Amino acid sequence: MASELTYRGGAAPGSASDGGEYSPKPSKPLSWLTRAARYAAAEHRPVFALAGMLLAAALFSLYAPSASSSDASSGRAVSAAAATFSHLSSLPSSASSLHGSAGGKVPLGLRRRALRVLVTGGAGFVGSHLVDRLVERGDSVIVVDNFFTGRKDNVAHHLANPRFEVIRHDVVEPILLEVDQIYHLACPASPVHYKIGARFLLTSTSEVYGDPLQHPQVETYWGNVNPIGVRSCYDEGKRTAETLTMDYHRGANLEVRIARIFNTYGPRMCIDDGRVVSNFVAQALRKEPLTVYGDGKQTRSFQYVSDLVEGLMSLMEGEHIGPFNLGNPGEFTMLELAKVVQDTIDPNARIEFRPNTADDPHKRKPDITRAKELLGWEPKVPLREGLPLMVTDFRKRIFGDQEA
Ligand SMILES: NC(=O)c1ccc[n+]([C@@H]2O[C@H](COP(=O)([O-])OP(=O)(O)OC[C@H]3O[C@@H](n4cnc5c(N)ncnc54)[C@H](O)[C@@H]3O)[C@@H](O)[C@H]2O)c1
Repeated sequence: MASELTYRGGAAPGSASDGGEYSPKPSKPLSWLTRAARYAAAEHRPVFALAGMLLAAALFSLYAPSASSSDASSGRAVSAAAATFSHLSSLPSSASSLHGSAGGKVPLGLRRRALRVLVTGGAGFVGSHLVDRLVERGDSVIVVDNFFTGRKDNVAHHLANPRFEVIRHDVVEPILLEVDQIYHLACPASPVHYKIGARFLLTSTSEVYGDPLQHPQVETYWGNVNPIGVRSCYDEGKRTAETLTMDYHRGANLEVRIARIFNTYGPRMCIDDGRVVSNFVAQALRKEPLTVYGDGKQTRSFQYVSDLVEGLMSLMEGEHIGPFNLGNPGEFTMLELAKVVQDTIDPNARIEFRPNTADDPHKRKPDITRAKELLGWEPKVPLREGLPLMVTDFRKRIFGDQEA
């Protein structure tokens, strides 16, 4: 079966840049106009579009003078027009602007239309939170997941929603879907085969920096990765995925985005998958000792999942390819993290030291200057605020609702 993911949006794939990561995509003056014309022609709807525009303009000019933000009727009129025309507009650059303002003076054509978005790995920890936000902003969402580490429970609350679908499928097999955007979270990462069109966001990882010799890590740093170690399949796999993503961009004009995600935590994480935050939280709740590998002085930065989701969406909607570090620059040693977990769950929780695992990085801290400047993004939730939210969820899942 041939694989084909067809772009439904108006945006024509941008011309391939020379592949210089970090550089903004070449600006496309009046690209929205081109997209508008192309869409109208492709869909054979110019007549409807014109009629809608005239109707909307008439209504808008009728109501506009009194159209305060509380004027519900004019708001609806503008919304109706926008529903007809939003596909002609350029995408806004921030998630918050996607909702528009109810009833205010909204320039015609500025509202975005609902997109059809594919989230591979959408039943997993990060993916399911991303799905929540996309559904909330009005998009139609298709989750493709083989439930290798993800859970149906993570997306069960959307199953009755007609704008939501979940497909059990392994991404190494081709699949035919029509979408505007692809968030690729399914891991192990595999190149998704598709026809050019949809904008493709790869969730890479801070592991591409290996055991870094530069601190904090900036995106221009090429990393220090052991190519034959026990962690190499993940680290080098993600590095290869970045390479392939950029090759598709350069060679096939594919619109791509690359996020390098640093340690992320929050509700719905796998309980026993060995990541340090979930380990400590589950151990403290079960009254088991917190296992610290090595001397506990190695550092990590912990990002709350809602901050990551905002970052992913800003990246997808913006004009910059990346790679971008998405992480919280707050840096903690493992012993400091254990202390936060003790303070949050059980001050008497014991710490047990174990021999360190191979190739465990000594330091990890993202430099997020680039994301701040180009995406207007930075994390907002500090560890001491985010951790209790995760603990509530873990308590519920480990002990059941009654003791939550
Ligand atoms: N959580 C973090 O701290 C972190 C850090 C760096 C990078 N990332 C990346 O972010 C992405 C999401 O991570 P997560 O923490 O939500 O992990 P997760 O394990 O909770 O989610 C991954 C999802 O992908 C699905 N999946 C795996 N292989 C698949 C396949 N072949 N076909 C279809 N579905 C498949 C799993 O069932 C699961 O639902 C991954 O690509 C991961 O490498 C996460």
